[in-house]
Amino acid sequence: MSNFDPLLSLEELTVKAGKKTLVDRVSFNVPRGGIVAVAGGSGSGKTTIGLSLLRLLPCALRIRQGRMVFEGRDLLGLSDEEMRRVRGARIGMVFQEPLSALDPLFTIGGQMDEVLAAHTALSKQERHKKILSALDEVGLPDPQRAYRSFPHQLSGGMRQRASVAQAIVTGPSLIIADEPASSLDVTLQAKIMELFIRLKRKNIAILLIAHDLAMIARLADEIVVLCKGQAVEQGPVSKVMADPLHEYTKALLEAAV
Ligand SMILES: Nc1ncnc2c1ncn2[C@@H]1O[C@H](COP(=O)(O)OP(=O)(O)OP(=O)(O)O)[C@@H](O)[C@H]1O
Ligand SMILES: [Mg+2]
Repeated sequence: MSNFDPLLSLEELTVKAGKKTLVDRVSFNVPRGGIVAVAGGSGSGKTTIGLSLLRLLPCALRIRQGRMVFEGRDLLGLSDEEMRRVRGARIGMVFQEPLSALDPLFTIGGQMDEVLAAHTALSKQERHKKILSALDEVGLPDPQRAYRSFPHQLSGGMRQRASVAQAIVTGPSLIIADEPASSLDVTLQAKIMELFIRLKRKNIAILLIAHDLAMIARLADEIVVLCKGQAVEQGPVSKVMADPLHEYTKALLEAAV
């Protein structure tokens, strides 16, 4: 794979629930270290695209067509075991509600250690060091304390940071973030945005699933606007926002003002 190939290339992804089409021939690329936003109203298919990429769709939903080429391999062609490795090590996930990514029964450090032990050959000591450095990287003020904490012992903002730390600890090249700041207040949202900018500087690409156009304008390079499962408009964020061509994009922008 050459360096000029995109990190992720989604080609004509089509997802159906029975006869109903939820995602309709959606194509876009995520370059290495780039931030691509998938925007659109509720029910437009944003989460379905994220879950398709992780091959974590609920069983009623089926990918009917398309390719998802990530780091040179079509994710649809991987075995379950290979896909588990991609999910654990190459693609990190951040969800709206951090508690859905964190296990309440284990300390933050304990669950991050489990992820690292499963996906790397690092020694216990090396893992410990790496985890503290990830917790520091996401801006947790006291990484040692966060390491020993159970999820419910952290505030909402700290939990979301811990879930980002968990997503980056294995050194993934892509993070899929589904409404990562929607459950946070405005100040904490700004902090999560700063954190994502830091990740981008470290050459981690982000697929940002969001309906918040202010956040998208601040973070993303490219935007894909979904309406009823179809990509009705896509391109550089500055261009699409300055000169929206599609009625639906105009309506989204007006609603965001
Ligand atoms: N298990 C399911 N069976 C049938 N239809 C489903 C299922 N899960 C989701 N859908 C439908 O798929 C469509 C897309 O849902 P999706 O969750 O991807 O939207 P979204 O853009 O993420 O919305 P939101 O902004 O509310 O999170 C919706 O019409 C939804 O009703
Ligand atoms: Mg969603």
